[in-house]
Amino acid sequence: MKRVLLIIGGGVAAYKALEAAREMMRRGIAVSGLLTKGGAQFITPLSVTALTGEKCYTDLFDMGDEAEMGHIELSRSADLLLVAPATADLMAKAANGHADDLASTALLATDKPVMMAPAMNVRMWEHAATQRNIATLKEDSVRIIGPDEGPMACGEFGPGRMAEPAAIADAVDAFFTTGGAQPLKGRRVLVNAGPTHEPIDPVRYIANRSSGKQGFAIADALAKAGADVTLVTGPVSIPTPATVDVVRVQTAREMLTACEAALPVDCAVCTAAVADFRPDLDAHSKIKKERGGLTSVPLAENPDILATLSAPGPNRPRIVVGFAAETNDVVFYAQNKLAKKGCDLIVANDVSGDVMGGDRNHVHLVTEDDVDDWPDMPKTEVGARLAVRIGEMLDRKDAE
Ligand code: C5P
Repeated sequence: MKRVLLIIGGGVAAYKALEAAREMMRRGIAVSGLLTKGGAQFITPLSVTALTGEKCYTDLFDMGDEAEMGHIELSRSADLLLVAPATADLMAKAANGHADDLASTALLATDKPVMMAPAMNVRMWEHAATQRNIATLKEDSVRIIGPDEGPMACGEFGPGRMAEPAAIADAVDAFFTTGGAQPLKGRRVLVNAGPTHEPIDPVRYIANRSSGKQGFAIADALAKAGADVTLVTGPVSIPTPATVDVVRVQTAREMLTACEAALPVDCAVCTAAVADFRPDLDAHSKIKKERGGLTSVPLAENPDILATLSAPGPNRPRIVVGFAAETNDVVFYAQNKLAKKGCDLIVANDVSGDVMGGDRNHVHLVTEDDVDDWPDMPKTEVGARLAVRIGEMLDRKDAE
């Protein structure tokens, strides 16, 4: 049985660490808790012990503890150290090698993998010092989960909320399942996903049925394989993976701008169902039926993001992957699309069934000289396999 040492920092999200402990235990992972002084302001050692069924270590440990379980031993007895919530202060200490309390000492003394789920006020998260510490921790192979974006206890809104307990447990579980293999470590990847909304007037828009599920699954899988992922998404109603940086947009033109801003990347994966056309109107107020309404909508062509990213140039990603949603002659159209768009790989899928919005996908991988038919499988597995495939393609490029 795998064991996690859960280091609970001093943040209001500390109560969610208890839920993360339960979620990990539900996945068959043993958890022992280490509560910092700050953490103990929010929850008690007793609640940690009651939940995990194990002793909870705190800064107040006595000589008996030290004889029984020295701090070096403590950090080595686990298969993984998880800091949740990881406060700005605890991350700063870990990034700089401080060891002035039990948590920072355990982090410095360990030779085991470390994951951190940051939680803090949005301005603290965005501060250059925190971002510098995050970069250092990543360089030191610490895996960062989240943070999520949303309303905060302090009343502000933005990135800084701790990732949801289930997402944290999933990340830990996936780590143990893959043995921590990270074939895409050090690679930067851009994924776009979801539909675009093209406004007709301030209250109406043209959209499509894309759910974003496949793109999100791919972004998450690439991140779990070690890549630094920027996910540019149109409006969707599914949870964002805690593992990626998310940029939200509405229109195709905004999506192109956000994608170009994410360059340079090693690989771009264009799963978004970008609207080919947008209403060519300049309606700054609601179009009223009483004033004649609108009986037809003039359209203007949107930029083709995939073709733009694939065009030769100094910033072209080394690998560009496109998607092709077709209802018939799937592979034939995909082969044409590969040439027309100038990308390196097309993932073609048949959307004549309930693929859009569903959880499974049946895809064909089409390259210049090969067609690979994958069986029907969950979208998450398409993501995981595609991450492996992209890793191989990049390795091959390296060797060229
Ligand atoms: O041209 P078609 O929509 O069939 O091609 C699908 C592929 O092209 C997808 O990868 C999609 O993300 C991309 N695309 C794009 N910009 C558009 C239209 C499609 O990036 N305006």
